[in-house]
Amino acid sequence: MIRKCLFPAAGYGTRFLPATKAMPKEVLPIVDKPLIQYGVEEALAAGMDNIAIVTGRGKRAIADHFDISYELEHQISGTSKEDKLGGIRHLIEHCVFSYTRQIEMKGLGHAILTGETLIGHEDAFGVILADDLCLGEPDPVMKQMVDLYNQHNACIIAIEEVPMEEVYKYGVIDAQDMGNGVYKVNAMVEKPAAEDAPSNLAIIGRYILTPEIFDVLRDTPPGKGGELQITDALNTMAGEGKVLAYKFNGKRFDCGSVEGFVNATNYFFDKLYGGS
Ligand code: G1P
Repeated sequence: MIRKCLFPAAGYGTRFLPATKAMPKEVLPIVDKPLIQYGVEEALAAGMDNIAIVTGRGKRAIADHFDISYELEHQISGTSKEDKLGGIRHLIEHCVFSYTRQIEMKGLGHAILTGETLIGHEDAFGVILADDLCLGEPDPVMKQMVDLYNQHNACIIAIEEVPMEEVYKYGVIDAQDMGNGVYKVNAMVEKPAAEDAPSNLAIIGRYILTPEIFDVLRDTPPGKGGELQITDALNTMAGEGKVLAYKFNGKRFDCGSVEGFVNATNYFFDKLYGGS
């Protein structure tokens, strides 16, 4: 049973400056809910109630969000506004949150390795990059991945087909199609130029990793951009036949970009308020 989910959340969010000058990008709202809350809801829906968040300087609002605000709750108690806190209260009641800080920003692989202290080596764990807001159909994407993990006991990475001119933004896989959206990964490369990309199957921000990844990360040299890349560590494990990719059912918004963020906002506004 996978109970833990890691949220790397230490990045600066420079694409959203000045909004992210004093506020973590993870608490920017899509309509009325912070981005990271969507991710935690997805984790809990997949049975992961142990939420491990890798934060950094200036990110205290994340921990405050997943806590009770007595004064506020007292103020709105008994009013119609109380309902607005139902979703977050549910998460606070059903999840345990733990935090550690990434002192230096040395890449996603480094952020995940920083989370080792919270995750430990007992079981596989999920990783959610809150920037990628996913809507799975019918099940949430992480739940679809857990079902696959339970059949194969391998690392699982979520993938999506992207236009060739966009592969440079992603980790990209070289893989064999096994049917039903499942691929056996032979190799993977971080942010290749289109002419070097092995396919247009891009990794998106959902992973299930086995604890072996921590030792592999420790032995992985810095890669693209001089940063420790999770893609490089997974490439090592793929060479040993330990990684599957999964083309999930559903849609994804790239909320790490302003355009994706606005698209997600419009989508959820229509969904929640019928666009009125
Ligand atoms: C990270 C990973 C990349 C992956 C992407 C998904 O990149 O390094 O392999 O495709 O997340 O969102 P980032 O977007 O943090 O630059």
